[in-house]
Formats: sequence, structure tokens, C-alpha cells
Amino acid sequence: RLESVDEFYETAVAVAREAGATIRAAFDKNKSVMLKSASTDLVTETDQKVEAFIINSFKDKFPSHKFIGEESVAAGIQCELTDDPTWIIDPLDGTTNFVHRFPFVAVSIALVIDKAPVIGIVYNCILDEMYTAVRGRGAFKNGVQITTSQQTAVNTALIGTEFGSNRKDEVLATILENMRSLAGEPNAAHSIRCLGSAALNLCAVASGAMDAYFEFGIHVWDIAAGILILQEANGVVRNPDGTELDIMARRILGACTPQLADEITSRIKNIVTPRD
Ligand code: IPD
Repeated sequence: RLESVDEFYETAVAVAREAGATIRAAFDKNKSVMLKSASTDLVTETDQKVEAFIINSFKDKFPSHKFIGEESVAAGIQCELTDDPTWIIDPLDGTTNFVHRFPFVAVSIALVIDKAPVIGIVYNCILDEMYTAVRGRGAFKNGVQITTSQQTAVNTALIGTEFGSNRKDEVLATILENMRSLAGEPNAAHSIRCLGSAALNLCAVASGAMDAYFEFGIHVWDIAAGILILQEANGVVRNPDGTELDIMARRILGACTPQLADEITSRIKNIVTPRD
């Protein structure tokens, strides 16, 4: 049987919607919160339940495909990206937001073939905003095509970044130094935003709500879908040092224009992280 990109896309949208409904139903309820690598790295039963649902749904339809899922990796399954069709899943990006009922919570699903994203779905299930992209066909929010803003300089930009989950003193020092370098004089950015979801930060840049976003320490499941959505919205995606993006390297810089990306690169310092 010949599988098509349209079938992958339609399945992914339907699965994201159903996963989102489960998250939405749990959003206002009490949650039992468990810790992963640190007290700043949270997981709930909903993350685990929704990941199992998503993976089982794709396994039924596409039995030869592979999977990388945040909670499966946390449970000890190896995180290995080959050239085979691989679904990369963050069932609940923005777990800290979910725990605190801050309404930036997303289901992130990407299909990667030959190590490049072909389908990207990011669904903010609380605000009911569905971001979608198929390679070569543009990016959409609730079915309406989106493109990035055209800002070319930090001093006219709204920039997203995050505190991340690694708050070791030397790491936090660089995170704050990078924010200071962009938010401070000379050439201060309009402001800095932390949405609490890497996937939604990338979608905010894709739709022109922010002009750029960078972070060190994210994982491939946080960004795989958002990368394609931003690229298809005419944005640029790179390693923060300006080199070609390596999606397993746990760092990202996305921007509306190459000029803005260049200036951010020149104003921030690198944080060393192990690879996925
Ligand atoms: C987190 C979010 C957050 C980022 C963290 C991620 P999770 O993902 O994307 O914005 O700062 O680095 O771990 O754990 O909520 O899926």
C-alpha cells in the first residue's frame, strides 16, 4: 500500500486534536506532579498518557515507522534519529505551564524523513490554535496561511527565550547575560518574552507575534515540528552560533529574517549541552 504525505498529515492533525482534548480536559483539575532531571523539570500523568495514545495511534496506521517521544526517552528508550520515517513527539510541550494553568500548552508532532521534517503540527489545545506545515506547502494557523514579520534589527524586535530546566549557576548566569545583552542598551530590544513552550515560541515567530526565539538545552521533540512551521512561514532556523541547524544538538535560533538572526548571534554566548 502506498502511503502519502496527505495521509500522514491528516492522521497527524486528527491525532493532535484528540490528544489536545485529553489535555484540555485535565487542564483545570488537580495534577500529581513528578520531577525528572531537577525540580524545574516536570512531568504529569497526562504527559505519559497522551504520549502513549499518540504513539499507539501512529503504530496502528504506519507500523513500519519509528518514534522518538519525550516520555519514552525519559522511560529509558534510546533517542536515535535514522533516515527512516520517524515521528518525533512532545505530547505536552509546556508542562510547567500546564501545571500552573498558564494557557500555553501544546501537542507537538513532527514526521521526519531522511533527518528532515516533512510534517509539523503544533496544537495549542487550550487556546485552540492549530499550527500546521507540510514541507513545500507553506505554514498555517487554523487554516490561514502565516508568515514571519520583517524585522531586521534587535532594537525593533520582540525576542523569545526561556530559562529552561538547567538552573546550575554557570548556566543561569549565561542565560541572564544573554537576556541582558539583548534587552539592554545600546540597541535594546523592544522586549523579551518567555512563553514556556519551545514549540509555541517557534510558532509565535512563524506567525509574526515575535521576531525571534533562541534557547539552549531544548530537546529534538520540543522543536522538530516548530522548525518546519517556521521555515514554511519564511523564517530562518539555525544553530545559535549561526551555523547550519543540527536538530539533535539541543540548541536553536529561529528568526524572521537572516539579518536579525545574525545580530542575535553576535550578541549571545553559547551554552554547552550534551546531544540528544
Ligand atoms: C520545555 C518547554 C520550555 C523549555 C524547556 C522544555 P516540556 O518542554 O519547551 O519552553 O524552556 O527547555 O523542556 O518539558 O514542557 O515538554
